[in-house]
Amino acid sequence: MDKKVTVIGAGNVGATAAQRLCEKELCDVVLVDIVEGVPQGKALDLTEAAPIEKHDAHLTGSNGYEATEGSDIVIITAGIPRKPGMSRDDLIATNAGIVKNVTEQVAKLSPNTVLIIVSNPLDAMCHVAYEASGFSKNRVIGMAGVLDSARFRAFIAMELNVSVENTHAFVLGGHGDTMVPLPRYSTVAGIPITELMPADRIDALVERTANGGAEIVSLLKTGSAYYAPASAAVEMAESILKDKKKVLPCATYLQGEYGLNDLFIGVPVKLGADGVEDVIEIKLSQSEQELLNKSAQAVEELKGILQKLNY
Ligand code: NAI
Ligand code: 2OP
Repeated sequence: MDKKVTVIGAGNVGATAAQRLCEKELCDVVLVDIVEGVPQGKALDLTEAAPIEKHDAHLTGSNGYEATEGSDIVIITAGIPRKPGMSRDDLIATNAGIVKNVTEQVAKLSPNTVLIIVSNPLDAMCHVAYEASGFSKNRVIGMAGVLDSARFRAFIAMELNVSVENTHAFVLGGHGDTMVPLPRYSTVAGIPITELMPADRIDALVERTANGGAEIVSLLKTGSAYYAPASAAVEMAESILKDKKKVLPCATYLQGEYGLNDLFIGVPVKLGADGVEDVIEIKLSQSEQELLNKSAQAVEELKGILQKLNY
């Protein structure tokens, strides 16, 4: 393949992302993890599936960074996931150290790459990667809104018994309990869901979306979701690799857009070869803007914790 994507962290999200990337023949894939043998074993296992899955992507597994040199995209999933009873924010001290370290290593060997951050707490980890890489803001992007919107879309399709392909949804804000699903901008075949279901059902789906991550954690018990998160990261990677310019909700560094400054938070962006090529400012109602501001406040609190931890 003429494109290369490195996935840091060969755990549940990372390995599943690697699988989706190669099976879609988007790129060659380098999997990196600190655990000896795991990235090598998973890369080999995926390579042995290639004749059956019919793809010619090359996979490399490594505990070092040499093979990552010149990556077009680096997806960072390294870190610990949450367990029942933990919030995403409980992961901050451990994951900040990991994300800083891996970002510094990849940035040295791939100075022109685009970083897609997955590790939690997502918005805070974007700040860590932004500072550690020194990259321009368009090349540090957080994955959360695509996942949260996909969950909302799945719940809308289940509720109305329609194809998921007919659904569109937008979830903005930080990747936490304060995320902001926008029913007005969520549609089935272009029809706003506010025309298709009563307010109490919309409220129930919004609530389920905001708790979507916790719902999976409570079922799995030993970790968090990974199939949908991997799909979401790969949708972002595909839009960048193919310069598709898809409009997707992603965490990006805002400097005045939506009245917010100096923080990473989820808003609709255009994703192309340069990463975030545009921030799309949609008109929010007063109550939607208030919810976004509240979510921004939660991200500010995480930034405060990072500062206390010297990041
Ligand atoms: P996992 O535990 O299955 O995988 C994490 C991997 O990172 C492990 O294999 C571990 O060995 C590796 N790792 C740890 N330190 C490392 C280092 N310094 N260098 C390289 N690799 C290192 O966890 P999972 O389920 O894959 O989740 C990964 C992260 O992604 C978690 O922080 C989780 O909370 C987050 N996440 C974020 C989502 C989002 O929407 N932004 C969705 C799902 C997960
Ligand atoms: C999720 O939303 C854990 O952030 C992860 O599933």
